[in-house]
Amino acid sequence: MSLVAARLRDLGTENAFKLGADIQKCVDRGMDVIRFNLGAPDFRSAPHINRVAIEELEKGNSGYCDPAGILPFRQAIAAHVSRTRGIDVTPDRVVVTPGAKPPISYTFQTYVDPGDEVVYPSPGFPIYESWVTYQGATPVPLQLSEEAGFAFTADELAAKVSERTKLVVLCSPSNPTGGVLSRKDLEGMAEVIRERCHPDVRVYSDEIYEHILFDGAQHESIASRPGMADRTVIAGGLSKGFAMTGWRLGWAVLPTPAEAALFKQININTVSCVPPFLQEGGRAAYESPETGTVVRNMVDQFERRRNFVVPALNDIEGIRCPTPRGAFYVFPNVAGVCETLGVLEAYDALPGAARARTTPAGMLQMFLLYRYGVATMDRASFGRIGADGQHFLRLSIANSMEDIREGVARIERASRDREGFAAFLVEEGLWA
Ligand SMILES: Cc1ncc(COP(=O)(O)O)c(C=O)c1O
Repeated sequence: MSLVAARLRDLGTENAFKLGADIQKCVDRGMDVIRFNLGAPDFRSAPHINRVAIEELEKGNSGYCDPAGILPFRQAIAAHVSRTRGIDVTPDRVVVTPGAKPPISYTFQTYVDPGDEVVYPSPGFPIYESWVTYQGATPVPLQLSEEAGFAFTADELAAKVSERTKLVVLCSPSNPTGGVLSRKDLEGMAEVIRERCHPDVRVYSDEIYEHILFDGAQHESIASRPGMADRTVIAGGLSKGFAMTGWRLGWAVLPTPAEAALFKQININTVSCVPPFLQEGGRAAYESPETGTVVRNMVDQFERRRNFVVPALNDIEGIRCPTPRGAFYVFPNVAGVCETLGVLEAYDALPGAARARTTPAGMLQMFLLYRYGVATMDRASFGRIGADGQHFLRLSIANSMEDIREGVARIERASRDREGFAAFLVEEGLWA
């Protein structure tokens, strides 16, 4: 007998949360750490939204509510999705969840059996791969290439789908790359799915970054392509676009009311419901005319930071950083820095067990944190399977311009500090 169920060994994690202990260690040593690791806007939720939730609470709207989500909020979400995707969504296809993370697990629990194949982007949000392995499904990572701006084509998708495919995960704009799938890309993918996949195959379209697009781009969803609303679970929420990560407000739009009833049933079995006064705040976020200006101001700031950080990183020898078109991340290739600092040799020299626990980019990540006070995320934090030999870091630009400038300057100094890296390996003994 063992204490912990065997299946839990196959559940992954999100390192952005796990890195907190290392950051705390550095803070306890008196370092000031620049947190490029966090995927949370450095803005507060808007006063007009806060006010509604506070008033609702004071009115006594503090009990259990409909496990699918209160009707006015589901109506607001249905109206928003119908308008922005050009499809007809009714509230009985909407389920409100505590954040946009739960619909990922709900989708796996609802549609995926052990042995089914799941196609998902890699690098991608780590929770996708985590649930593939937890569910005993077969991972089919779709490797995104730097050269293609971290988008992928219909042909690449076609090469990954088979008669065993049950779920295809898309995420645009993407965490961690900021890549955006164009309407043409999505049209091609929709064609592949319509022609090659059984009607019961589902697409999980993670659209949590729908509001954060640059260069005047408009959000595109695969659900808007002909025939795709019947096969797509659209997931979104208020965490990113409305700077409301701590509110835990997310939602899924299901292809049918019957499938929505299954998501509701999972809510009943796990969280019961999302606090109703928060949902009223969420409704205000979608319905108030003030929200558009708030979102635009925030996105403008992200775009200005992107316009600074990409050339600044590209000026560092050994770093190559493509220009993201959405979300608030940059995903530079740091292979050159790994080479200059001797990270690749140090990685090769690690004992096997230690090598399995890290990657060259992971060693660089820890060096930047422990010696230069810059917290980043390594490539392997966004899907490990098939990612060997890929040397990237993700930096969140949800930080003040001042911190971004200082962080990039520190990375530049670190990128030349070969002696410092060698000393760090001995002194910290992280992989001893
Ligand atoms: C692609 C993606 N999907 C889902 C989520 C989860 O969002 P939430 O905080 O609303 O649960 C995140 C958060 O980082 C994300 O990046």
